[in-house]
Amino acid sequence: MTSSIKISPSILSADFSKLGQEIISLDKAGADYIHVDVMDGHFVPNITIGPEVIKKLRPLTKKVFDVHLMISPVDKYIEAFSDAGADIITFHPEATENIDVTINLIKKHKKKVGISLKPKSSINLIKDYITKIDLILIMSVEPGFGGQKFMPEVIDKLKDIKKIISEKKIKLDLEIDGGINFKNSKIAKDAGANVLVSGSTIFNENSGDLKKNINLLRES
Ligand code: DX5
Ligand code: ZN
Repeated sequence: MTSSIKISPSILSADFSKLGQEIISLDKAGADYIHVDVMDGHFVPNITIGPEVIKKLRPLTKKVFDVHLMISPVDKYIEAFSDAGADIITFHPEATENIDVTINLIKKHKKKVGISLKPKSSINLIKDYITKIDLILIMSVEPGFGGQKFMPEVIDKLKDIKKIISEKKIKLDLEIDGGINFKNSKIAKDAGANVLVSGSTIFNENSGDLKKNINLLRES
């Protein structure tokens, strides 16, 4: 499946000293979504950015802000990320005591809901919620850092989820995140992913030619 593939560049690999300019460049280069990795040094061992930064970036583009929350507990920050301008808010099931409560909280703020599965997290964690959400994010690296190696073992999970959503005729984004490059992008797409997140490939390959790298990921 190579039609209607969306590319969601992760700004984790951007130059943080000129983040605004990087967002404008991604917009011009044809990104579909802007993937914002939020880390708290608790749920994952790294710390990145919070709602204040997102709020400042929001006026620079109309692209969808695809906000991946790697924070725990997550509920108390949903309002701040919604107000800051997130369009999709994705959380990890392990970061909340009640998945339904978190889903409803995100919906209350009229945002799209995503749930993310770490490489070792089972589909069973989210099976009951698939009809209530807009996006499933399959992590193909352990969350926490950009530039890690793609874990091919998650492909079977991606295929299993794709099968479930096809059987149930559910329309949602199936996103893969971590270590995506020009070699494995086709494997991910063939397994059912329609949104590819990429940080280091988009910002570092071909001397940082964002447009070329976005198109190569979309088409390869
Ligand atoms: C990892 C993040 C990813 C990742 C993407 O915790 O969720 O978005 O850093 O970057 P690359 O493409 O470099 O793996
Ligand atoms: Zn991410």
